[in-house]
Amino acid sequence: MCGIVGYTGSRPCLELLLAGLERLEYRGYDSAGLALLDDEGTLETVHAVGNLARLRAAVAERAGSAALAAAGSEPATSPLASGEREEAALEAAEVSARRARTGIGHTRWATHGRVSEENAHPHSDPEGRVHIVLNGIVENWAELRARLEADGNVFTSDTDAEVVAHLIARHYHDDPVEAVRRAYRELRGHYAFVALFAGRPGLLVGARKECPLVVGLGRGETFLASAIPAFLRHTRRIQLVEDDELVVVTPDGARFERVAGALVEREVRVVDWDDDVAERAGFETFMLKEIHEQPDAVRETVADRLADGVVLPELGLGEDEATRLRRVIFVGCGTSYHAGLVGRYAVERWARLPVEMDIASEFRYRDPVLDERDLVVAITQSGETADTLAAMRLARNSGARVVAVTNVMGSQATRDADGVIYTRAGLEIGVAATKTFVAQVAVMYLLALWLAQARGTLASSEIDRLREELRALPELVRETIDSVREPVRAIAEHWQSAGFFLYLGRHVGLPVCLEGALKLKEISYVPTDAYAAGEMKHGPIALLDERTPVVCVATDSPVLEKVLSNIAEVRARGAHVVAVATEGRKEVAEHAEEVIYVPRSDWMLQPIPAIVPLQLLAYEIARLKGLNVDQPRNLAKTVTVE
Ligand code: F6R
Repeated sequence: MCGIVGYTGSRPCLELLLAGLERLEYRGYDSAGLALLDDEGTLETVHAVGNLARLRAAVAERAGSAALAAAGSEPATSPLASGEREEAALEAAEVSARRARTGIGHTRWATHGRVSEENAHPHSDPEGRVHIVLNGIVENWAELRARLEADGNVFTSDTDAEVVAHLIARHYHDDPVEAVRRAYRELRGHYAFVALFAGRPGLLVGARKECPLVVGLGRGETFLASAIPAFLRHTRRIQLVEDDELVVVTPDGARFERVAGALVEREVRVVDWDDDVAERAGFETFMLKEIHEQPDAVRETVADRLADGVVLPELGLGEDEATRLRRVIFVGCGTSYHAGLVGRYAVERWARLPVEMDIASEFRYRDPVLDERDLVVAITQSGETADTLAAMRLARNSGARVVAVTNVMGSQATRDADGVIYTRAGLEIGVAATKTFVAQVAVMYLLALWLAQARGTLASSEIDRLREELRALPELVRETIDSVREPVRAIAEHWQSAGFFLYLGRHVGLPVCLEGALKLKEISYVPTDAYAAGEMKHGPIALLDERTPVVCVATDSPVLEKVLSNIAEVRARGAHVVAVATEGRKEVAEHAEEVIYVPRSDWMLQPIPAIVPLQLLAYEIARLKGLNVDQPRNLAKTVTVE
């Protein structure tokens, strides 16, 4: 995810901003930039692709070229020799670049718009009156941009952020806060941004809708950032910006206003985190932080793609081509394979297309029969998994159309594919995939719905209903995280010493079981097996006795009755059933010892909330065993070898 840091105060801020951005590096980024405003109102912007060392080099280079230009324009009568003139001018430019006491900085992790200097923030309007840094997504950016272009505005980047700068500038006459308020009212989506105004040193205006923004109060200086680590070395006194609020920041502090107009009093809190905890936003591990980021991962992934029907231009596929497809084949490894399994059910049911799903390392060697009527969808969080890349190459060489679903812009998979659909989960640091899984599953639904829309296999009213259900998912995930934590903890405490866990499910519940079982084995090293519940009596039933916990995914589906019968079979063998069920399904409680409820949604979408308790169960057991959940033994986040 991107990072924002802003400062206004008594100290020169170049180093403060760069250091703040460095503290946000753990979030991942591919480009960065700064806008610096000195007390005379002179504004400098610098952008760089790559890491912050590149941004530092760009700042130095900017100072150097300004110096050389100044040296070149020295009158010939100057008493200084040319070398001395250059040195003096270099010094002057350095001083100028370093004297700014108001500024904003940004690290960008590209989600839409390629990685380039033009797309790096800050962005401004053409006259350079307003400069902004933005996190999140402005969903109606294309519509706003078209309107602004029709009025003669020229854009220099592909980003949604630039639209916001243009929009604020359009409303900016003499009141910066009013300009931000008016612009904010025209935006849809979820975002946080900070604006800096040329000629207005000592002022930053921020706004927030569903993306974090926090004020850091120092002595005679104020910070405004997307996360506390950005300023933790300078102050521990913070104020949180809430949704639909504007924050007006000066060296003396922050004023909070509702977008609707009312002033708001905001309590000052003191954080007692150390640096490490701050990086994890107060969570004890990255994995737990990333589990809590799942609502955002889903929200960002579906956001603008549901704006008008289902929009997936990244697929690079026309509607007529979609109708001519003979088959969809999903390939992936590990967690990504499980996401593809959900995709199989969704595409078959909604788009009525035959689907195959294979593990990439199997697919690449099984000499599959493929041609140009096939759509091969390679799912890979990192975009670098060797087997998945090999499967993609094989498919492409056979004439199939290849689409990559990945979380990493610029990864190898994006270069080897005909089309790329990004999951927008933000950088995942925990080795065990969590938020990238739910984002991948969200893409599976988008893809299935897009195919259904293109092929006319679902009524448009049904597509609209499912779009609404998808839009509601992030909130349901948030509710699930809150409501299941305690019951899951109790179950983990009870079963922490169990030597084996069996997971059972059917239909879309099966990939949830496979993924839940994988989480438990990879972070707590407990042996697990996951099975299609109907298959249990053909073998695994022999494993059951009163010491066996059996996790059954019994969420709503047309086969719920069948799952309940399978649960009864398990109970009859004395095993202990922990069921995950949809809220309100009291009948599940009659069959299982323990039930963890997840909120109701369309049954096909239930895997997204249902995976949450299973991730947390694995997490709690691993913690109780004192294991390092972020870096489990023998595992690598990216598997670049076969
Ligand atoms: C499990 C996990 C792995 C990956 C697998 C594929 O938590 O993270 O199973 O899913 O190594 O990686 P990607 O998706 O990067 O291709």
